[in-house]
Parts: sequence; C-alpha cells; structure tokens
Amino acid sequence: MTQNEIEIRSLHKSFGDNEVLRGIDLDVAHGEVVCVIGPSGSGKSTLLRCVNLLEEPSAGKVFVGGTEVTDLDVDIDAVRRRIGMVFQQFNLFPHVTVAENLTLPQRRVLKRDKARAAAVARENLERVGLADKAGAYPAQLSGGQQQRVAIARALAMDPEVMLFDEPTSALDPELVGEVLAVMRVLAAEGMTMMVVTHEMSFAREVADRVVFMDGGVIVEQGPAEQVVGSPRHERTRNFLNRILDPAAAAEPGAGPQDAGPQDAGPQDAGPGPGTGPGPGPGDAEDVRKEG
Ligand SMILES: Nc1ncnc2c1ncn2[C@@H]1O[C@H](COP(=O)(O)OP(=O)(O)OP(=O)(O)O)[C@@H](O)[C@H]1O
Ligand SMILES: [Mg+2]
Repeated sequence: MTQNEIEIRSLHKSFGDNEVLRGIDLDVAHGEVVCVIGPSGSGKSTLLRCVNLLEEPSAGKVFVGGTEVTDLDVDIDAVRRRIGMVFQQFNLFPHVTVAENLTLPQRRVLKRDKARAAAVARENLERVGLADKAGAYPAQLSGGQQQRVAIARALAMDPEVMLFDEPTSALDPELVGEVLAVMRVLAAEGMTMMVVTHEMSFAREVADRVVFMDGGVIVEQGPAEQVVGSPRHERTRNFLNRILDPAAAAEPGAGPQDAGPQDAGPQDAGPGPGTGPGPGPGDAEDVRKEG
C-alpha cells in the first residue's frame, strides 16, 4: 500500500495583504525525499511551517499521515509530535548538555521515563556520530555538530516525517558535509523528508523530487535530474544560474541566453571547483564521501 505521508491541497497563506502562498498542491509519498528550492521570499519556509502548523494556513488543507492537520479540532501538539523540524539556526537549549537536549523534550512531550529517554538519546546521538559529546554543552560544539545534535533531538521524538529548512545555510562551508551526510543516511533509511536547501549537489544525489517555488506557487517539479539538470521554465533557469554561478549572474548582460544551464551550470555543478568561488558544495561532497 502506498500512502502519501504529506498531502497539501490548495494551500494559501497571507500575512496581511501579502499573499505568500498562492495555492500549493503537493504530495510527499512515504519514504520520499522532496527538496524545495526557490528564491528568497518565495514562500519555502512558510510552506514547511504550514505543514507543522507553526503557521496557520489562510485556506486549503494539509494532511500528515492521513490526518487533516488543518482541521480546527485537531490536537496541534499531537500533530507536531509526528513531525520533526530542523531549522537553519539549531535552536538547542544552551544551558543544558547535549544529552539533556535530547531527553528533555522526550520526557516533557512524550512522557518517557528517565531511563528510556536516556537510551533513546544515546541511540540517536550514535546515529549522528556524536555519542562522545553527550556530556558537552552546545557552545562547546562546532556548528556542524550542533546541527547534528538538533537532528538527533528531532529523531528522538520518533517523527513520521522530517522537515528541514536550510539546515546547512548557517554553517561554515567545511561543516556542511557532515550534516548532509547524516541527512543522506536518514533518506536511505526511508525517512520521509521535505528539505529546503540550496545544496544542489545534495538535491541531485538524494532527492526523489525537486520542487521549484517562486512567488508562492510551484513553478515546476520533477526528478532532480530534470528540474536542476534541464529546467523547463525560465524562472527556474534564472534561479539556478544565480545560485550555481553567482559571479556570472551578477555580471551585466549575463543572463540565461548567455549562460544557459546546459553550458554553465548544473551539469558541471557536481563536486569540484566549478561550483563557484571559494570553498563550496564541492568540499562538502568530499567530506561526505569520506564519512
Ligand atoms: N511571520 C511573518 N509575518 C509577515 N510576513 C512574513 C512572515 N513570515 C514570512 N513572511 C513573508 O512571507 C514571504 C515569504 O517568506 P518565507 O520565509 O516563506 O520565504 P523563503 O522562501 O523561505 O525565503 P528565504 O529563502 O529567504 O528563507 C516573505 O515576503 C516574508 O517577508
Ligand atoms: Mg526560508
């Protein structure tokens, strides 16, 4: 039986006069990894936040695991328990240890006893390769380690789906790979994931589907190879040109006609120096391959 883990129907969201989501329809199948890409302000974060009800949709419906979470009678806490979310900023509790960051939510929200919460915490710290940091405080960890703790904390709640909102955007380039490596393992284990990311090599490698959003709508979607490799819409091409080769995109006259994605971008945008100035996704890819 195939079941959609997430179903989004005619989702609209306005902030005052600003209509940020203008009718989003999207299904995410059980075990599927969907990467959401698009320019700043296109509504990617708002979309994720509507799925776990951090934002209340203005219209439309969202189902998670077959339950309509937008139903007014729904228990919002019960819904959120089923959805893990990882943000750009790690949002760890700074004043308690890494282990306690994992055990406290389990105890408070899931009412697990101390021993069980500790065992689940250990298990998930091992999963992200940080068992040895259980007693450390967040400030003693690198950004990449902190983000892996944030992922472990979400996993300790046994979520049915995981939402990632630019989980590597706040990290120094050399730390991106270790976080993506954890996410890649999760994907391989069959976790249902929605990932907002600018890491195109990750999207190409891991995503079952890439969704390109602009102006609050889904402009196109499909396999990564198609959307990133040979986008159908000019808006998608422009966006990819900008993120894959920011320097070229900033040059006057350097538009899609001069540097179409076939020439400039995605095909060459795997690991390697072609992806842009300085350390970038290429380095991250290298780290991942080692891990
Ligand atoms: N709480 C809010 N109140 C008012 N406006 C908001 C709120 N949250 C988001 N917006 C507006 O909604 C629009 C979409 O924001 P959103 O954060 O979803 O975009 P995004 O695609 O995630 O962008 P970025 O890539 O910069 O993270 C923006 O114009 C933003 O200013
Ligand atoms: Mg955002």
